[in-house]
This record gives sequence, structure tokens and C-alpha cells, in this order.
Amino acid sequence: MKIAVYPGSFDPTTNGHLDIVKRSGLLFDKVIVAVLNNPNKKPLFSVEERVDILRRTCKDIENVEIDCFSGLLIDYAKSKNACAIVKGLRAVSDFEYELQMAHMNKKLNPDIETIFIMTNSRYSYLSSSLVKEVAQFGGCIKGLVPEIIEDEIYNRFMK
Ligand code: PNS
Repeated sequence: MKIAVYPGSFDPTTNGHLDIVKRSGLLFDKVIVAVLNNPNKKPLFSVEERVDILRRTCKDIENVEIDCFSGLLIDYAKSKNACAIVKGLRAVSDFEYELQMAHMNKKLNPDIETIFIMTNSRYSYLSSSLVKEVAQFGGCIKGLVPEIIEDEIYNRFMK
């Protein structure tokens, strides 16, 4: 069984992320979407909330599982018997850092490949950070994130 891990912060999940989840689901037998638990960052949504949002938005994709991890991604991927790490690439600006991480992960475990999927051009400008910035100042985020979290993103900035 070919298993891939799609890691990220997903704070919050965007429609660009969901596009990558769906497309990687077509390439692998199982895709594990893995939310990074990073104690050094103060997220908008807790890890549990992010996992729950992903579970709800991906519930109709049969071969996708949602999980969280801490520590090194490559160790997590090995523990899940994954043969690949999936990353979405939006623009050249993503490439340098992603290439560096892909090489480092390859050095740490040569058996696991990093596979890049080009983001749908509709979402090439989209990032979780930009969504947060736009929402914080009352801009429209419709169509950029799953509908079920649209209102909650604005609410988080009102607290
Ligand atoms: O959505 P993000 O924040 O761009 O995702 C970054 C992520 C989670 C893929 C990256 O930070 C990561 O892999 N973190 C786990 C720690 C790790 O393995 N670091 C070494 C990378 S070579």
C-alpha cells in the first residue's frame, strides 16, 4: 500500500490545501494529512481544532486520514510507513525553502521521497497567513477557506 503524508500547519486550512489533499488522494492508496503541533507558535486554531476542521472538510474523501504530529516530519512519516511526503508548490518563492527541506529529509531518510504538487492556479496566491491578515482587517475570505470556518476565523479576531 502506497502511503503519503501531507504535512503542514493548516492554521487555518485553505481551499488550496484541500485541492492538494484531493489530488494526492488520487495518486496514493492512502494520504495522511498531518497537522504540525508546534509549541513555539501561537496559532489561531488549536491542533485539536485544526484536526477537527480537516476531518469535517475531508470526510467524503475515502482514502484520507487526519492526524497530528510533533518532532521531525521524516520520523513521523516513517512511523506511518509512508513512502512519500507531499508538498504543495505555489510559486518560485516556495521553491528554495521546500528544496532545502526535501534534501534534508532525504538525507535523514533516503527511503522517503518528497513529491511536489503544483497548486491549482486559482489558489497560487493563497496562504493561511494572508487569509488571517485579510480576515483580521475585515476583508472578504469567501471562497478561500472551507465555508464551515469562514465565520469562526472572523470571530477569532474579535476576541
Ligand atoms: O504549513 P507549513 O507551516 O508551511 O508546514 C511546514 C512543515 C510542517 C511541513 C515543516 O515545518 C516541518 O516539516 N516541520 C516538522 C519539523 C521538521 O521535520 N523539521 C525539519 C525539516 S527538514
